Amino acid sequence: MFEQLKPVPTDPILGLMSEYKADTNPKKVDLSVGVYKNETGDTPVMRAVKKAEQIRLETETTKSYLGLAGDVQYNELMTSLVFGDHATVKANRIKTAQTPGGTGSLRVAAEFIKRSNPNASIWVTNPTWANHFSIFGAAGLETKEFPYFDFDTMGLKFDEMVSTLNTVPAGDVVLLHACCHNPSGMDLTLEQWQIVADISKKQGFTFLIDSAYQGFGKGLDEDAAGVRLLADQLDELLVCASCSKNFGLYRDRVGAFSVMTATAEQTEIAYSVALNVIRAIYSMPPAHGAAVVANILSNPELRALWEEELQEKRTRINGLRSYIVEKFKEHNVPGNFDFIAKQNGMFSFLGIDKEAIQTLKDDYSIYIVGSSRINVAGVNKSNADYLAKALATVLNK
Ligand code: LMR
Repeated sequence: MFEQLKPVPTDPILGLMSEYKADTNPKKVDLSVGVYKNETGDTPVMRAVKKAEQIRLETETTKSYLGLAGDVQYNELMTSLVFGDHATVKANRIKTAQTPGGTGSLRVAAEFIKRSNPNASIWVTNPTWANHFSIFGAAGLETKEFPYFDFDTMGLKFDEMVSTLNTVPAGDVVLLHACCHNPSGMDLTLEQWQIVADISKKQGFTFLIDSAYQGFGKGLDEDAAGVRLLADQLDELLVCASCSKNFGLYRDRVGAFSVMTATAEQTEIAYSVALNVIRAIYSMPPAHGAAVVANILSNPELRALWEEELQEKRTRINGLRSYIVEKFKEHNVPGNFDFIAKQNGMFSFLGIDKEAIQTLKDDYSIYIVGSSRINVAGVNKSNADYLAKALATVLNK
């Protein structure tokens, strides 16, 4: 029967990561996958993580099963990290389960939504992270798009977004990115979060928040302000968090799925459904990464070190944003790229066409996702001139 299978195209993001690894050009530049890189282009293990791993090595006493929800202490600490010292948390209306990465969390969310309303559609920003479509499709949910990013102004299409959200019915789910929108870097202001919260109250749809970059935009609390506003005002909310970027635990697969309902009793029921979903997909999450996160968040010294390291990353990315704009001007790259300095997190679009993206890869070994999304953190003082000159040459052809 396997001869019936048709080949599937490589993943638009992870495929480029493999191509980049295989490229032997010493000048190659990787602006593709969303992985933080330092000034030398490396992604070292965070110092707080190394220390927490050392503690874990010495104190771990068993490798017995963790249980469906994963590490209970981690779940409580992640609830606080995402929702803060929130009244809803205190009222036991939010419960969190450890998941294998943000993707695992989104898959649990998708199955959970399917159980809650088999006919639900998921509305995603246009554009969004390409994998959202695969994850929701795999759970049998229909994915619909609402306007979000405007390639003409390189800003938000907020009015069009509001018009579409005003048509989303009760029982559907609207996915927003908590901060550092992937792929555009354009986030909602707090006033805009309030407007969409009001629309959800009127329409009755539920929000699912993808929080993969907390701490990479303006700060840990600032980046969670939209999520907390929704938690404050709405009856129901789902949040999928990832520790891949902010703890640099990419390959250890650490994430969290949080469900909030109107009452503590209802949340217990919803949580039992989530655990049942988990049992049928992967039974339970792996222990190591979440235990490391729990060690860091519960130890004041390690937590301070982690926050300091995260701030270093955030500051470097924000500095790079202005630096890229300067370099593009210095090398006369055609167009106005000032918007890059105003966006948040790892990503921005260059707004260049597919042919230019292909030429940058073929002729210069510069790797950019086909949508023209760049990982800002892939730029550094050694490759910025090469990048800007190549872009100027390709765009002036
Ligand atoms: C990205 O968008 O590049 C990251 O979230 C990595 C991935 O899995 O696609």
